Amino acid sequence: MHFLGRLISITISYSLFIALIERAYTIFIRLYFSKVQRKSKGVLTTARPVEDIQTLHAFDYRAVEPIKYRPFAKKQHVTMGIKKSTKQDWIRIDRNYLERTALRKKLLAEHTDICVGTSETANPAVRELYEEIMLDLLPKRFPSMFGIKGDMFHNLANGTRHCISSALQDHASMLRHLAENVEEDFYFMVPDAQDEFVLQGFVACFPQGLLPSAKVGMSVSEIHKPVPGYEGRLKKGVNRCFERMERGQSVGRLNWAIQSNHSQLFLPFDGANTIKTDDSPCAKAEFDPSASFLRAEHHTLTCLPRTGTIVFAVRSYLTPLTEIREEGSGLTLAEACDSMPEKFGIYKNRPTWGQRVCAWLREEDSATDKHDLRASPTTNPSGSCPFAQSREPDTSASCPFAP
Ligand SMILES: *[C@@H]1O[C@H](CO)[C@@H](O)[C@H](O)[C@H]1NC(C)=O
Ligand SMILES: *[C@@H]1O[C@H](CO)[C@@H](O)[C@H](O)[C@H]1NC(C)=O
Repeated sequence: MHFLGRLISITISYSLFIALIERAYTIFIRLYFSKVQRKSKGVLTTARPVEDIQTLHAFDYRAVEPIKYRPFAKKQHVTMGIKKSTKQDWIRIDRNYLERTALRKKLLAEHTDICVGTSETANPAVRELYEEIMLDLLPKRFPSMFGIKGDMFHNLANGTRHCISSALQDHASMLRHLAENVEEDFYFMVPDAQDEFVLQGFVACFPQGLLPSAKVGMSVSEIHKPVPGYEGRLKKGVNRCFERMERGQSVGRLNWAIQSNHSQLFLPFDGANTIKTDDSPCAKAEFDPSASFLRAEHHTLTCLPRTGTIVFAVRSYLTPLTEIREEGSGLTLAEACDSMPEKFGIYKNRPTWGQRVCAWLREEDSATDKHDLRASPTTNPSGSCPFAQSREPDTSASCPFAP
């Protein structure tokens, strides 16, 4: 009996010992191979391997049409509507490249303080974004346009070049070089000690109804305060989305507005979503709907692998409303404008343009009807946009990473 008792206790402690070893080994293997990183909040996230970038050999930007984003749909407002995105989808280049980058250089030179802002807090992320885009993405994705020789970055489309090693010594220079070579604007949302994402830096040549420097130091929620209907579900959804983004991950969404009567991409005004035009009945009567634009913005949120900063990138597209009309989308756009909730309409400056634009879109729509243009729905010839054709409203404000 005594012997049997000892044998059992030895066996038990032996198997306990083996179990412990196994456990330790499993933990070690998991830590070692999946490079588990600990986010400050204690959430374990796996660092993603650097995504493969598909090279566009012999890419000729002059032959690429701008992506036809038509994100408007009836009753599709005040939602996030986000989809997973990829690193290679971060930067888009089309036939307007030279014209737009020339405009950006001009704006950067004339309005440096409005276009570029950085801080000690944002600087590590500025460097990381510069390395990701200038040193990795651009030369790999578009070798016919960008190349690196020694420590010189060559822009083969424009014929310009700059020294990488000297740029890497100064964060404002990194932001300027980025802004001169791509059309996307970037906002750096850096997590603070409470894990709130706060705007700490930006490079923005095409801000719309936003003065970025006025928002520095604000959290995601504070920045969105002027958006009617933001409090509540939407706010919770957005915050959750930020918190749950894993390093290396990207999501995209679309936003749109009517830009009445002027064609500027540079609209740095603190306050309303679009430029405030003269609201008097006289001005309203004078303003010409056929000289107005659809402003579509493609947004991406990307959590940088090294710093964990979330970079909000905005690519802006202006399309004349005459083109929307010719495509046969006039009626849909008019309905989308009409169906905006009232407060949201005010936020989008609808009192200034609403009546005239909508009436005009409907008028033209019935005129084009005769030519049967509406028979062909808006298509996305480039095939590169995963959600240009998706008209399904995302009423849930859901985050794809939510369990
Ligand atoms: C390159 O950019 C500069 C500055 O914007 C501009 O003056 C020049 O015309 C551009 N070159 C080409 C080939 O477009
Ligand atoms: C529209 O543009 C024209 C020409 O630039 C200008 O005279 C007019 O005041 C503008 N109207 C509004 C409402 O902005």
